[in-house]
Amino acid sequence: MANYTTTTITPKYHDAMVDWQKKNFPELAILEKYWEDHFKGQPPFELVAKVGDLQSDTVMVGQYTGRKRFERAKEMVGNAFFSARDIIRAQASTELGSIQQHTLTLDKAISDRGKFAVLRIMAEELRHAYQMFWVLDQDQTWKKPGLGDVANQTIEELLSMELGSHVLDAFNIDFNDFLDNVTYATVIDLVGKYQLEMQQVFSYAPMARSMGPMLLEESFHLGSGRALLKDIGEMASRGEGDYSVEDMQRALNLWFPRGLEMFGNEKGGETAVTFGFKDKTNGTAQNEYIEEVRGVVRNVNIAMVQERIAGISRQDAHAVIDEIEKSGDPSRGVKPEDIISLPDVKFFRKRGMDEFVFMPYDVRGDLLTEGGTQLSPDGYLRYLATVLPEKFIGSREYDKYVDQMREHYSDK
Ligand SMILES: [Fe+2]
Ligand SMILES: [Fe+2]
Repeated sequence: MANYTTTTITPKYHDAMVDWQKKNFPELAILEKYWEDHFKGQPPFELVAKVGDLQSDTVMVGQYTGRKRFERAKEMVGNAFFSARDIIRAQASTELGSIQQHTLTLDKAISDRGKFAVLRIMAEELRHAYQMFWVLDQDQTWKKPGLGDVANQTIEELLSMELGSHVLDAFNIDFNDFLDNVTYATVIDLVGKYQLEMQQVFSYAPMARSMGPMLLEESFHLGSGRALLKDIGEMASRGEGDYSVEDMQRALNLWFPRGLEMFGNEKGGETAVTFGFKDKTNGTAQNEYIEEVRGVVRNVNIAMVQERIAGISRQDAHAVIDEIEKSGDPSRGVKPEDIISLPDVKFFRKRGMDEFVFMPYDVRGDLLTEGGTQLSPDGYLRYLATVLPEKFIGSREYDKYVDQMREHYSDK
């Protein structure tokens, strides 16, 4: 267990956060009322900052390695100050955005267990945002001559963000059904885990102290997402429930590319390492992430194969999936469309390396062509409509993608 103490932030901001919660997350009251029914023996939710231990008093990576970690923002010079602020701001934006997303489809939960898992995730994301506010609020040196109170400005900005204006694309996409809540907790929260793990080395000590307690909570989000995705997969394999295997595949196709992009350009991330903010570059962390998602997909597939072939062992189910993936043909009566697969990293990308940004790659990573030349943007949009959730097509974030793609090609 991580050791931590709890604290609160300046009443003005604490109250602002409670107001934000009442407006964006009134369902917190339901969670509090029935907490004991669902999470017996576990400490009830509290809107506090949790201050954990540092792994070391000194900076662990980058140009300040071996020096004492920074306790004051003003000790971070030049770009490091703003870069740290940007990371804290982006982190808080993800926490608040995810609450605004989850709430859209909370009442479409597949079960009471699913609904309360999501409610708890939302409450903990609220606490995570609060934690980031604490990082800014506990230090009077988040002020710069001529720039005013950076902490204050950042908190005010965050509290006014709506879906569509969050920092990262993944946190602007509206949820349309409960499959979004579940796929998101599996695929997007997992990126959060990677960021929090990397940021345990953060050279600015208050940020580093925040990571352990947040990670502890994040494991519930990931575990819930995985368990519910497996439930949905098993139901789909039996022909039960609201979702088909194809629905699951389309949801994965929507969220996985945005998860990949949360790492930043796969060629970058050196600056964050130099400043001692993270211990891995974007590409390294992203690769580990891809392998972990691959494992999650495999587990869901195992459960679905076991649902279709009565009594099959895990080992034999693995063999069935290996066979399908290798040959593209059915194996023991299980068809390729009866399982899900991880889209290629080049599919449906809007950020990252030039080689694939806005390029018409299909889910398998093959460049789509038409009469020997690269498929046109319109052709690619028609393709996307066949592999992404129907309700995403024509949505605000879809339109944004279309606009950005057109701009990308008009610049050429
Ligand atoms: Fe979080
Ligand atoms: Fe989370």
